[in-house]
Amino acid sequence: MNHFDLREGELFCEDVALADIAQAVGTPVYVYSTATFERHYTVLRDALQAEGVRDPLIAFAVKANSNLAVLKTLARLGAGADTVSEGEIRRALAAGVPPERIVFSGVGKTRAEIAFALDTRVSEINVESEPEMIAIAQVAEGLGRRATIAFRVNPDVAAGGHAKIATGKSENKFGVSFAEAERLYAQASNNAWLNPVGVACHIGSQITDLAPMAEAFAKMAGLVGRLKGEGLSVERLDLGGGLGVPYFNQPEPPSPADYAKVVAQATRGLDVALAFEPGRVIAANAGVLLAQVVHVHERPEGRRFLVLDAAMNDLLRPAMYDAYHDIRAVRPRVGETKPYDVVGPVCETGDTFTRDRSLPTFETGDLVAFMSAGAYGASMASEYNSRPLVPEVLVKGADFAVVRPRPSYEEMLAREASAPWL
Ligand code: LLP
Repeated sequence: MNHFDLREGELFCEDVALADIAQAVGTPVYVYSTATFERHYTVLRDALQAEGVRDPLIAFAVKANSNLAVLKTLARLGAGADTVSEGEIRRALAAGVPPERIVFSGVGKTRAEIAFALDTRVSEINVESEPEMIAIAQVAEGLGRRATIAFRVNPDVAAGGHAKIATGKSENKFGVSFAEAERLYAQASNNAWLNPVGVACHIGSQITDLAPMAEAFAKMAGLVGRLKGEGLSVERLDLGGGLGVPYFNQPEPPSPADYAKVVAQATRGLDVALAFEPGRVIAANAGVLLAQVVHVHERPEGRRFLVLDAAMNDLLRPAMYDAYHDIRAVRPRVGETKPYDVVGPVCETGDTFTRDRSLPTFETGDLVAFMSAGAYGASMASEYNSRPLVPEVLVKGADFAVVRPRPSYEEMLAREASAPWL
């Protein structure tokens, strides 16, 4: 459920008309609903608790939506943060996420990033390979600070979904195999600078079928049992993120309640603290990208292009993954619909949000909302074509705040410098 609804023929975010935000801030702009973020977080937490998962660490995947105000909103509810760079750790800390609720993942952490994570005492570093384990031990020794680690295991499970975001097969770059995990865990336990506390997995994103998750979780539970059987201490099991959301062109994703049942079933009796790294399921339907129609261009042979002021640099998912986003008129005209190719102004054909989609009729100046854009929307935006970085607005009830302003052209240019010979 989200808080973007039509009220008397006009799309609102909570109690704010999207048209009022467009008027005040301009377009394109991301608009987020506080109530939706809060609802998604609490529904997931309550579902896990209802299945007997005690005090789960719900570490929001910062990459899904890295805005500080969004992170603060979630941190206030008790969310942790799953981070994959020093920048993300800094964001989580700045948003008030306590270090003991921050998990640091990623296949290519640099030594500087590892040192930063150890300095800030994040709760655990998820180790993705043997060379990384060695690097962490060396950095820890250099700092004189023992590193708390967990091993990210690649459970070799096909999660379905888009190939570019599947992570759980052995041909993907993520994590160690089960055999490596057992060997490295034992090795780490004998290293004075490493404190292995658990194991982790994350098999992919936008997963709409619970079967691969159940398979991966069962394999992880088996690993925990084997490690404990070898006399090793395993306190934590991190089951990653990946739960899909409705984008309206796919099968309904499983509910958090069904997901929680699968978790509970796989982990019953394990006696480990559980952690999760959800991103999309919390953020996607809490945000929209609001844009304006620049032209309606009808070709004589029949194609009709809806040219917007938003482009692939603002919302990359359709160009990158052929992703589907529901496209709605902020003030839909009733009656006729027409097929549109919805495109942005960037100079490549990939800058196409959808082709031949039947939509209510649009005219120049109309406002358009891309739904389910709160995850991997603004966080993947760029200034390609020298288009100023898209701003973000957070709504709460009848109030809204610009939580990332649109940079001016002066600010955009001032970030660069000339070279001495120019
Ligand atoms: N944990 C790890 C280690 C991850 O790599 C990811 C996402 C997550 C958690 C969160 O997954 P989620 O719950 O959001 O599915 N840009 C793509 C999605 C990339 C996901 C990368 N990893 C998209 O727009 O669909």
